[in-house]
Amino acid sequence: MAGKVPIGVLVSGSGSNLQSIIDCIEAGSLDAEIRIVISNEPDAYALQRAARHHISAVVIRHVDYAGRQEFEEQIIKTLKEYGVELVIMAGFMRILGPAILKAFPMRIMNIHPALLPAFPGLHVQEKAVNYGVKFSGCTVHFADDGVDSGPIIIQAVVPVNDSDSAEDLAGRILKEEHKVYPKAIQLYAEGRLVIQGRKVFIMHGSPIVGAMHNPPLSE
Ligand code: GRF
Repeated sequence: MAGKVPIGVLVSGSGSNLQSIIDCIEAGSLDAEIRIVISNEPDAYALQRAARHHISAVVIRHVDYAGRQEFEEQIIKTLKEYGVELVIMAGFMRILGPAILKAFPMRIMNIHPALLPAFPGLHVQEKAVNYGVKFSGCTVHFADDGVDSGPIIIQAVVPVNDSDSAEDLAGRILKEEHKVYPKAIQLYAEGRLVIQGRKVFIMHGSPIVGAMHNPPLSE
């Protein structure tokens, strides 16, 4: 097995995904090392989580830069300074442009709280509830030059129930995010992700069989 992957985590808010990554590293189930946490929001609770675990963190505020490119150059410079190999977007609320994609080709992961390609963009739990889908979930994918459009690494499926509010669904999805993001990073660490076009093949993976039904067929 390869050594620990040096990762940089980009955050803007609560950082519960950052926390799940920290917890898995500390539990020994994730062969990664968080070199740096970067937040574009000085008040992000994620920064407190990093501090509590003695992880280096910096604030790079987008509003302090002339434009997206300058902001992004500062992020790239920081990631390189800290020797980051894999970039993890964990609730990072800025869209990244060509410079960072070029600096870290197919080495930027994002998590999205819907089953892509359904419901890209913002407020997607509410959109899923309003649309009336019976399942939703979350997706970890490599970032590319579109919005929530890169090659998919792993997805988790959760049911959507008739009584669900957007918040109910968001909570159910978030619990799964905390499982699949560390798993995606671990698959990378094990060298098991092979990207061909827009497909990510999992080396030595087992096929999934069976189906889920909502409502259940027995009702
Ligand atoms: C998650 O639902 C993530 O999928 C979305 O923003 C939320 C961030 O949560 N992009 P947290 O900051 O990791 O708690």
